[in-house]
Amino acid sequence: MCKEICILASMLIFLNIVWFCTSIDTITLTRPIKDGDVLVSNGETFVLGFFSTKNSSNRYVGIWYNKVSEQTVVWVANRDRPITNSSGILSVDETGNLVLHEQDQGFMFWSTNVSGVQVNNVSTAQLLDSGNLVLFQGQNKDVYSWQSFDYPSNTALPGMKIGIDRKRGLNRVFTSWKSIVNPGVGDYSHKMELVGSPQLFLYQGVTKIWRTGSWTGQGWSGIPEMSANYLFNVSYINNDDEAVLVYFLRDTSIFSRMVITESRTIDRQSWHEVDRKWVDFWSAPKDQCDGYNHCGPFGLCDLYNTLGAFECACFPGYEAQSQQDWFLRDGSRGCKLKVGTKLCESGDGFVELKRVKVPDTSTARVNMSLGLEACKELCLRNCTCLGYASADISQGVIGGGCITWHGDMIDTRTFSDGGQSLFVRVDAAQLGALFLIILSLIAVKLY
Ligand SMILES: *[C@@H]1O[C@H](CO)[C@@H](O)[C@H](O)[C@H]1NC(C)=O
Ligand SMILES: *[C@@H]1O[C@H](CO)[C@@H](O)[C@H](O)[C@H]1NC(C)=O
Ligand SMILES: *[C@@H]1O[C@H](CO)[C@@H](O)[C@H](O)[C@H]1NC(C)=O
Ligand SMILES: *[C@@H]1O[C@H](CO)[C@@H](O)[C@H](O)[C@H]1NC(C)=O
Ligand SMILES: *[C@@H]1O[C@H](CO)[C@@H](O)[C@H](O)[C@H]1NC(C)=O
Ligand SMILES: *[C@@H]1O[C@H](CO)[C@@H](O)[C@H](O)[C@H]1NC(C)=O
Ligand SMILES: *[C@@H]1O[C@H](CO)[C@@H](O)[C@H](O)[C@H]1NC(C)=O
Repeated sequence: MCKEICILASMLIFLNIVWFCTSIDTITLTRPIKDGDVLVSNGETFVLGFFSTKNSSNRYVGIWYNKVSEQTVVWVANRDRPITNSSGILSVDETGNLVLHEQDQGFMFWSTNVSGVQVNNVSTAQLLDSGNLVLFQGQNKDVYSWQSFDYPSNTALPGMKIGIDRKRGLNRVFTSWKSIVNPGVGDYSHKMELVGSPQLFLYQGVTKIWRTGSWTGQGWSGIPEMSANYLFNVSYINNDDEAVLVYFLRDTSIFSRMVITESRTIDRQSWHEVDRKWVDFWSAPKDQCDGYNHCGPFGLCDLYNTLGAFECACFPGYEAQSQQDWFLRDGSRGCKLKVGTKLCESGDGFVELKRVKVPDTSTARVNMSLGLEACKELCLRNCTCLGYASADISQGVIGGGCITWHGDMIDTRTFSDGGQSLFVRVDAAQLGALFLIILSLIAVKLY
């Protein structure tokens, strides 16, 4: 595109061709951008500039796709402080910060607000082809003081780290827009929590509404379809520096993104050029059982049990807190140990629940150096342990790593396919009863 225009331009006017054709991707102290100007990333994938949403004259600074015909904004600077006219200027100031203000150093709408940066003349903000806006300190492109990928809006792009930088104490929180025409910070947020084992949550305000589950070595415990994802290669890193997930597109000519929507979902979409629209290929939460804590503590959400039956059941050895609630199909109060259960006296054992999303690890302990057998022993020896699971199912039956639960086990569900095994502690009497059921089933088969 640029070439054709360029040739045309050079035929019409002989001057200013270079200015016309070289897309600028940086902002410096002496080269700010004003409303109407844009930065175009080096490979022409992303654009940064001022935009308005439908039916609004408010101006925002944002980043959007250059080659996607439907304007799709992936990041917004002044989300809750729109500029009401076209007097906005985005510049690098003397403190090395990127600032958005009105002409003549008027009101400041947004700033990278990085402190403790060496004051210098050579800070540059560059829009990279990944969609990341990076503020470099000086000429050295290894040192940056700020990047938009660390302060996401509602969109995760390939190559962006999702999760926590432990060293800097930085959690990259994604937040929905207020509405499709208002990019202000909305109700829904998506972020990682580190308690137990790292898990990603979708929140509505401060209420958890969905959970990915813990990382199983192959994918999230609560997203069985993830391992079959052909579009990406996914890296999960959990070490002293960080706990993050990074997606890379295998085919970089595709545009694909994850969005926290205003309608309570996390969507993964790809751009279909033929139809000129974004198409969802994955979305969560999907069904009742995805709703966080739908069946309460020690409850198991199972849509595949009996058609038309109540989806909530209790763990083996547990019964409903309230039969009445259960009868009314409200499982939220969950389950309690069956009357007369004597855990941790003698002869305890475990019942295996297959193909499940393991419970919230907020009440769990994780030891990555124990196998599944050692995990069972560890749990048996400790009376507060109510169940265990492998922390890394890619190691097969031996299991790599051990999760033990020491409190309420909540938000457990089954899958028709995928998931992993959870081992629930039961007492000797319960084990005996289960044994009798199995014997009678065999007896029925025999006679
Ligand atoms: C914009 O305004 C038009 C006319 O008032 C209306 O039909 C349309 O729904 C509005 N669009 C949005 C996104 O609000
Ligand atoms: C833009 O609006 C601000 C107040 O919101 C005002 O101070 C400024 O003069 C306006 N600029 C222009 C160019 O209209
Ligand atoms: C900049 O950060 C400081 C603390 O780091 C905070 O107190 C201040 O309000 C911030 N300023 C702006 C304009 O966001
Ligand atoms: C900025 O650059 C000028 C000349 O290029 C130099 O004299 C001055 O010391 C620099 N200021 C800082 C704070 O580095
Ligand atoms: C995933 O893709 C990125 C970028 O193409 C590459 O650097 C990385 O090595 C790949 N990782 C795996 C596990 O294939
Ligand atoms: C994990 O288990 C090993 C073997 O029992 C033990 O040496 C180690 O201290 C445990 N680590 C943690 C973090 O509990
Ligand atoms: C049992 O596990 C809990 C949680 O990890 C721990 O605080 C407690 O010390 C353990 N008890 C014993 C006897 O090991």
